[in-house]
Amino acid sequence: MAPAFSAQVPALRRGALRVRWVTAALFSSGILAGNKPILVRDFVRSALYDPNHGYFSKRAGPVGVLDASIRFNQLEGRSAYIQHLDKLYKKHDIAWFTPVELFKPWYAYTIAASILRTANLSVPLKIYEIGGGSGTCAKCILDYMMLNAPPKVYNDMKYISVEISSSLAEKQLETVGEVQSHLSKFTVEHRDAINRPGWGRTDPHPCWVLMLEVLDNLPHDLVYSPDQVSPWMEVWIEKVKGRKFTSFRSL
Ligand SMILES: C[S@@+](CC[C@H](N)C(=O)[O-])C[C@H]1O[C@@H](n2cnc3c(N)ncnc32)[C@H](O)[C@@H]1O
Repeated sequence: MAPAFSAQVPALRRGALRVRWVTAALFSSGILAGNKPILVRDFVRSALYDPNHGYFSKRAGPVGVLDASIRFNQLEGRSAYIQHLDKLYKKHDIAWFTPVELFKPWYAYTIAASILRTANLSVPLKIYEIGGGSGTCAKCILDYMMLNAPPKVYNDMKYISVEISSSLAEKQLETVGEVQSHLSKFTVEHRDAINRPGWGRTDPHPCWVLMLEVLDNLPHDLVYSPDQVSPWMEVWIEKVKGRKFTSFRSL
């Protein structure tokens, strides 16, 4: 979850170099050490992964975990669900829960059912999950396979989690380890998934790659156009007189 950028962007004028200043919101201190403008990809990398101040480098896990599944059959419609969520957020004092948490175990069961329906089961099932958070998806998929797949499929399967946060890697082992038999199928590789050498040599065998709520965490650029006819602009972040701003330049 990348930090929010400016909520309001004014109309832009045409020109070779367009720079329009907008105060940027919710910046962590220390991300922009100098006054040099940086691209959003560098800002995201620093804000999320810097070993000192990065969001995912903090010891306390940022991913909220529900103690128990929500009993959807006991909620009468949308407003009851919203009220229930409100109570959960107050109780847990957490910034956000992800869909795999809120809809557990059903969200992960749906993924598992789809894998089971479409996989070539004559080869051992291999699932990679990038950024597995608290391990809820892994645990629920392994549960589903244990309960619904032919025993050979469950016994031979491998579930590999690639996780950048050491505290979340530990949490995943704990969550999956709630069912002892899952542990022989599950491993956590504590590393940055975008680091190519970490993946080793190409393996020709089929595998599944799951990424839930991760793509926007990866360093990426941001482009902006105020309407459908203006050319795209790239977004830069800069510190001017101690304040941080976003600016826009022609691509
Ligand atoms: C927003 S959480 C989502 C967690 C989980 N997938 C879910 O939906 O509940 C993002 C997860 O991706 C991990 N992550 C972020 N960037 C990563 C990277 N470059 N390599 C591996 N894991 C990463 C975080 O540590 C965290 O576990």
